[in-house]
Amino acid sequence: MVKLDNFEVDHWLLSNTNSVEHNLGHSYCLPRSIGDLQQESGSGTDVDILSPIISKPLDYGPMKGSEDLLSKISDYYSKESSSQLSTESIVTTPGASLANFLVLFALLGPGDHVIVQYPTYQQLYALPKCFGAEVSFWNSKEHDGWKLDLDELKELVQPNTKMIIISNPQNPTGAIIPNQTLKEIVEIARTHSIIVFSDEVYRPLFHSISPTDPAYPPSILSMGYENTIATSSLSKVYSAAGLRIGWIASHNSNVIDLCVNARSYALITASQVDEHIASLILSPPCAQVLMEKNRSLAERNVSLIQSFIDKNSSSCEWVKPVGAPIGFIKFKRDGQPVDDLELCTRLLNKKKLLLVPGRKCFGDGIRFPGYIRLGFGGDTRQLEGDLQVLQAFLDSDYVDIPLSTE
Ligand SMILES: Cc1ncc(COP(=O)(O)O)c(C=O)c1O
Repeated sequence: MVKLDNFEVDHWLLSNTNSVEHNLGHSYCLPRSIGDLQQESGSGTDVDILSPIISKPLDYGPMKGSEDLLSKISDYYSKESSSQLSTESIVTTPGASLANFLVLFALLGPGDHVIVQYPTYQQLYALPKCFGAEVSFWNSKEHDGWKLDLDELKELVQPNTKMIIISNPQNPTGAIIPNQTLKEIVEIARTHSIIVFSDEVYRPLFHSISPTDPAYPPSILSMGYENTIATSSLSKVYSAAGLRIGWIASHNSNVIDLCVNARSYALITASQVDEHIASLILSPPCAQVLMEKNRSLAERNVSLIQSFIDKNSSSCEWVKPVGAPIGFIKFKRDGQPVDDLELCTRLLNKKKLLLVPGRKCFGDGIRFPGYIRLGFGGDTRQLEGDLQVLQAFLDSDYVDIPLSTE
């Protein structure tokens, strides 16, 4: 039997979501219904967007995903890069979770070493460990805007380093790896023939940087290095987590072949119904309309959180996120971090308000005391109400939260 660590963030969210009235634990933009998507796609209410699949025989469908969806995903990458990404370079999956799983399962094993940007989504380091690889953390600098130090990366490289794993934008911080740093990561990887695997599930939702800013990060696939892999999905910034559609993309055909083979063992193919709806979401004008709405929603909401933090600066602080509808906030009293698990548990019990405890879910129970992850991709009115509830808690109950002993 393989030994898998508890998936803390997912367990925390899935076991607590039902009882909450104020959900600031999620990490996606406002989920949309199929009816909403019909509106966004400009089809109007008299056209049934599901009609093309009503008469479609429900066979397994094509090996790597529907041609229509693959070409929409290819367009999505090709728009921002001078080099075209062919449909042959993509394979669909049920969500980025399975995309990540397949990449790590297909490519890593005992004897391999991986370097993982930290903090990050637990899947990205727990699975390599489970598959027998040795894991080194490349720590983002908490006190320096979650920046990464390239000299440290060079020092972490070993003769058996197979993969550098990053996510951009980053969960839980919402920080980005800027363009220049990405270029330098790729140069280090190229020198040692290392794969760079980037989880880009929060792309392209950048609410606090302009696409014309030189630091604006492109997809890892557009860096001119064949040994790069990107995974993504429609869950977070395209408001369709319930669809369960994601993908793996790489210019390296060997990587794609290995992932397709692993995918055959795990699921044969993805759902054709889901793929049909997914290709509608990625079609113009739906994708652009959704992205623009979600970007301005995140822009509005991030400034609400910033005002909340400014008002409560003796109790909390953050590095303002640049992308993704999430931020990592440190709660303190008299300059000391509070016990974040106790804070989240009391907020749940007293106020039915859900946040994610940072030390438990992103710090292996040790690091990031006082931190919580807060999701701000929801409705703005609702967020205003949620912040009032959080404020009431800070005003009356916060004084009783114990300080962290870590
Ligand atoms: C960084 C990251 N990658 C992947 C996923 C999985 O997303 P999904 O399987 O819904 O596409 C998540 C979900 O929280 C995430 O935060």
